[in-house]
Amino acid sequence: MKQLVFILMFLLSLGGLKAETLKSPDGNVSLHFNLDDGVPVYRVDYKGMPVIKKSRLGLELTSGENLTGGFRLAGSETSTFDETWQPVWGEVKEIRNHYNELAVTLEQPATDRRMIVRFRVFDDGVGFRYEFPDQPHMDYFVIKEEKTQFAMTGDHTAFWLPGDYDTQEYSTVTSKLSQIRGLMDEAVTPNSSQTPFSPTGVQTALMMKTDDGLYINLHEAALVDYSCMSLDLDDENMIFESHLTPDALGNKGYMQTPARSPWRTIIVSDDARDILASKMTLNLNEPCVYEDTSWIKPTKYIGVWWEMITGKSSWAYTDLPHVKLDLVDYASLSPNGRHAANTEHVKEYIDFAAEHGFDAVLVEGWNIGWEDWIGKSKDYVFDFITPYPDFDVEEVERYARSKGVKMIMHHETSGSVRNYERHLERAYQFMNDHGYDAVKSGYVGDIIPRGEHHYGQWMVDHYLYALTEAAKHKIMVNAHEAVRPTGLCRTYPNLIGNESARGTEYEAFGGNNPDHTTILPFTRLIGGPMDYTPGIFEMDIAKLNPDNHSYVRSTLARQLALYVTMYSPLQMAADLPEHYNRFLDAFQFIKDVPVDWDDSRYLEAEPGDYITVARREKGGDNWYVGATVDENGHTARFALDFLEPGKKYIATIYADAPDAHYKDNPQAYTIHKWIVSHETRVVQPCAPGGGFAMSIEAVNDPTMLKGLKNYEP
Ligand code: NOJ
Ligand code: CA
Repeated sequence: MKQLVFILMFLLSLGGLKAETLKSPDGNVSLHFNLDDGVPVYRVDYKGMPVIKKSRLGLELTSGENLTGGFRLAGSETSTFDETWQPVWGEVKEIRNHYNELAVTLEQPATDRRMIVRFRVFDDGVGFRYEFPDQPHMDYFVIKEEKTQFAMTGDHTAFWLPGDYDTQEYSTVTSKLSQIRGLMDEAVTPNSSQTPFSPTGVQTALMMKTDDGLYINLHEAALVDYSCMSLDLDDENMIFESHLTPDALGNKGYMQTPARSPWRTIIVSDDARDILASKMTLNLNEPCVYEDTSWIKPTKYIGVWWEMITGKSSWAYTDLPHVKLDLVDYASLSPNGRHAANTEHVKEYIDFAAEHGFDAVLVEGWNIGWEDWIGKSKDYVFDFITPYPDFDVEEVERYARSKGVKMIMHHETSGSVRNYERHLERAYQFMNDHGYDAVKSGYVGDIIPRGEHHYGQWMVDHYLYALTEAAKHKIMVNAHEAVRPTGLCRTYPNLIGNESARGTEYEAFGGNNPDHTTILPFTRLIGGPMDYTPGIFEMDIAKLNPDNHSYVRSTLARQLALYVTMYSPLQMAADLPEHYNRFLDAFQFIKDVPVDWDDSRYLEAEPGDYITVARREKGGDNWYVGATVDENGHTARFALDFLEPGKKYIATIYADAPDAHYKDNPQAYTIHKWIVSHETRVVQPCAPGGGFAMSIEAVNDPTMLKGLKNYEP
């Protein structure tokens, strides 16, 4: 027997046959790597159950030998890392980054080239990436396709979006992996100008659940100078393979050694709450690169926005189809009477923000160019510094300052990216000169230069350029339609928001599925916060614009909950002041809820069904709870055992009324105040498409308890 083991070990240590196994610090996750006839392969187990079956690694290049096989193992190194760091803003005060690492150096004798595959195994999953060291026989190379496989163990339930190079604004489809092909056509939003690249291609972050109750999430971390990855499914064998976004020539990445790919991530657990609590994506990103971050501030804002999205008002100043920038004197044109970004109207928003304690006001449609923005000469649409004649930048600046309110800038690039880059420095300087310290940018439409895609390497480089240039001006960025986030906000925390998914705006364009917000935290939010723009109180869009028959698929109570369930350091109260004025008791929650936290607890979670979260405010003792549920409703049951023992708290519960329903009775809510403690167990029914919000205030003065009763379900 001993002899046999010896022979086996000898065989394993021979180049090309050596296998490596690495476990997570808690031993639950294990990663296995070996060369299969010169082809690098890996697999992942969780608590002894297979998560990723044997899967190939490698890359195809446009010329020369591919990096997919013919390798021998030239060396391997293991190490352990354990460090706790503090994010500039976040769900928790401190994040532990604890993993075991394996770096294998692969040598391709035929070409004399080397590539390293670096694995990090955490308690919550595995990340790995390719590294291309500086070397004599590989300096420049072009990626034809990355060939990373993720072999599934069965026909899992998946929460997926069609694979697309230019939009992530699809509704999530929930289906078996084997059904993706059949559902693809239906899954594509009819008004999308974009098209999925294959009948089984899907985007990441891809959430899955196995029949054995394992939750698996595939995504990427630290997407820098590389094309964004989607996944193609071989639905006979249930094997996903990486599919990078091409450029206009069909190439997928221009590399110069030393270089590396983003991390490919597999988050896994048998408890869905762990997926939401995972910090692996952030941990795989580099620490913050800015020395001074004092100018980066979590922000709660309102905006001149929803009235344009619903069609009540317009972004453009005139109704003329094509008014070309620089060619006309706007003041000589007749205004359409529906232009929302006018000085007087903006002042009303500033007043409302000041009265209710909001940090900032966003104004869209303030600058010339909106008439022509889908025009033929798109390259020169906006200059980002010239206001329409009815928007007085100086007066708005003065007024906002006098009220203690910040203004948020809006840069819609219309996808014309070279135009934006040409104007960027002046546009940011204009912001500095007029007191703006945050910008919402946007990339609607096909990218110019034509043939480039929103998620290709060229655009990935652009988004980071816009972000790091902004930092030089101490400007925070909230980029819409940009590539889906991959945890880069750790390194560049002035990236305080992204859209990169179907947001609340779609409630005015036909609606979001009632389960949408029970899925997004498992998919889109894995990479970073989303500017979801919740807080709609008037669900019937026709009340704003009689021609718009869409409605918001949510109860009012759930709109409050989203401030807790959809973590973001940037939160908008998206509805109009006149609607908030009708429901000021419920609006109180939006006023109270913080946008920065010291602690977060995921109390209940099931993708597609419900999520209940509790968070403790930054630097304080107060907690906030939110729950969002699907079209079937749900009764939330949880203990307040996260409260400090021996202490009393006052809970204000904003709940769906018993007869509330997202379809026909969304505004029915109740508000109750109770005395609670760490022994309280909450039982809270939620309506179909509903939820609840709860603020839990620490009682420091017993007279506060007067007239209140102990909590009863
Ligand atoms: C789409 C964005 O998602 C939305 O928020 C914005 O108002 C419009 N583009 C116009 O820029
Ligand atoms: Ca959008």
